[in-house]
Amino acid sequence: MQVSRRSQVDPFIVMDVMEAATQAEANGRHIIHMEVGQPGTPAPAGARAALAAAMEESPLGYTSALGLLALREGIAALYQKWYGVTVSPARIVVTSGSSAGFLLAFTALFDAGDRVGLGLPGYPSYRQILRALSLTDVGFETSEANRFQPVPDDLVGRDLKGLIVASPSNPSGTILSRAALAALIESCSATETAFISDEIYHGIHHGERAVSALELSDDVYVINSFSKYFSMTGWRIGWMVVPQDHVRTVERLAQNMFICAPHAAQIAALGALGCDAELDANLEVYSANRALMLEELPKAGFTRFAPPDGAFYIYAEVSEFTENSLAFSQEILEKAGVSVTPGLDFDAGRGAQWMRFSYARSTADIKEGLARLRKFMTERGHL
Ligand SMILES: Cc1ncc(COP(=O)(O)O)c(C=O)c1O
Repeated sequence: MQVSRRSQVDPFIVMDVMEAATQAEANGRHIIHMEVGQPGTPAPAGARAALAAAMEESPLGYTSALGLLALREGIAALYQKWYGVTVSPARIVVTSGSSAGFLLAFTALFDAGDRVGLGLPGYPSYRQILRALSLTDVGFETSEANRFQPVPDDLVGRDLKGLIVASPSNPSGTILSRAALAALIESCSATETAFISDEIYHGIHHGERAVSALELSDDVYVINSFSKYFSMTGWRIGWMVVPQDHVRTVERLAQNMFICAPHAAQIAALGALGCDAELDANLEVYSANRALMLEELPKAGFTRFAPPDGAFYIYAEVSEFTENSLAFSQEILEKAGVSVTPGLDFDAGRGAQWMRFSYARSTADIKEGLARLRKFMTERGHL
């Protein structure tokens, strides 16, 4: 049987790397995970308790396609709390993680062949989802000088119907300042380019907080998730805020594509909204891990990186050591027992000489990982 051309997307390399690490673990090796973009902590206790209670009381059937009203109201309250912005719950769509949000947003906004811009390095699935929807992904290299974020000049002459940005970004962890975000939104609005803001790492910042696109405009799509700050990756629950006049379009798509996001995960997410103390404790771990990384990575020979503003990644240049970051990460996994992500996932060109280190796991793991990296780099003759 034939397969479609649009289904021929690239693999998500970090998932392949995780698979190799899992295989090594199955063979009895102890692996330190610095590849995964997920917290080592479980969903907060309030989330788990809410679900345990609901399982006894309710059949947990389908919800409305837009999500439980209480959850949409809770998310609206979060916008007030985090940014002082009033967002009507009617504009909030609960999704199966931000990944389903991309699918809904790209389908609602674009027609086959439309050109959608994204800065490189960036989160790889944007372009693969665009391709699978017969849209044209227009990747352009962002510069280190612009902290690997797009600037309005990058958009000129590209004939874009849309632009997607992430702040804090994956893999670089950089945050767009209010002025930089405003400049991008204005330039998109002037050229009728839909602006999509991936805000999945909001809440995880190490200095000034990230600005939401909703502080600057209502004519944007904002996509967010319970995966990162709320420590709920496997629960597959997120949300999207869309302009009021797009709600019905997105609702019809959501009804048909998903019926609804998992009811159980929606209940847990609602519980998670009340767990500030536990989530703040997670932030302290990321902050301690970041400090360790900034101190110890250079001692392991990795000196070419900028301190991240948010998220839990460090994107480092490794051209002194390799021309092939995939082979290098395989060597590190095999010899050091540390799993890291090659930059190729985020930037198919320059990424061959970059590597992403995640510090989302426990501080003890990060310490051990850094010690192993240092030993490996010593044995490889770099120190
Ligand atoms: C920038 C970015 N957006 C979206 C996602 C997908 O997250 P979710 O679990 O909400 O689907 C990730 C996952 O790592 C990410 O890094």
